[in-house]
Amino acid sequence: MTAPLVEIRELGFHYPDGTPALDGVSLAVARGERVAVLGPTGSGKSTLLQHLNGLLRPTAGGVWIEGVTVDAGPGLSDIRRKVGLVFQDPNDQLFLPTLMEDVAFGPLNDGVGPVDAAARATAMLRELGLDGVGARAAHHLSGGERRLAALATVLVSRPVVLALDEPTGDLDARGRMRLVDLLRARGETLLVATHDLTLARALCGRGVVLYGGRVVADRELGALLADRALLERYGLESPSGE
Ligand SMILES: Nc1ncnc2c1ncn2[C@@H]1O[C@H](COP(=O)(O)OP(=O)(O)O)[C@@H](O)[C@H]1O
Ligand SMILES: [Mg+2]
Repeated sequence: MTAPLVEIRELGFHYPDGTPALDGVSLAVARGERVAVLGPTGSGKSTLLQHLNGLLRPTAGGVWIEGVTVDAGPGLSDIRRKVGLVFQDPNDQLFLPTLMEDVAFGPLNDGVGPVDAAARATAMLRELGLDGVGARAAHHLSGGERRLAALATVLVSRPVVLALDEPTGDLDARGRMRLVDLLRARGETLLVATHDLTLARALCGRGVVLYGGRVVADRELGALLADRALLERYGLESPSGE
């Protein structure tokens, strides 16, 4: 049997100040799956995603990508290339004088030459509808543009797994649909931490609910969203209009 693309086994984590965040999370994600990671604020969603590329190190258990353990060893740069993590706050991802430079940074860092890196960045910005703003600094973009720009800096490196942390924070309905269409068309394996059940339903086939750092549900998303009692128990609101 081949290993799942992402395997999380009995993952436990507490922050250095002692705050417990994850408690025995197990989850396997197959190539091509799109999984919504749901749960109220503080349930451990961001902490979980930050384990996928080794940004945080488990206190217990572990994470494997294509069967390779995520740890501090020599394989970590390879893991970071495979797993693209888009932070909850786009400002954590954009730090160079222009957006174009931010997007070319990943390819340059991977050893792509400057001309090809610029070409890839240009194509990426075009794909996200940001071609007009590549010469601007991130702080001169709108909130929605900044959000897409942060995504561009990760997608340009062609990750195998994409982990998105609250990706629709400042997108309007149109921006949200554009994001859904784009991600569906690209076909990366996705883990999306979100409160936005409408986004989850449009994008994902499976939903995992975290509560108090534990997985309390892991089901086909339609069935999960139809379970009113479950949504209410774990502080999730059903998608608007129903
Ligand atoms: N840097 C940190 N130091 C200490 N505790 C933290 C830190 N970041 C998050 N936490 C705590 O860890 C728990 C899980 O947080 P988080 O993963 O951010 O949840 P979510 O993304 O679902 O809102 C919460 O209790 C939160 O307060
Ligand atoms: Mg979070």
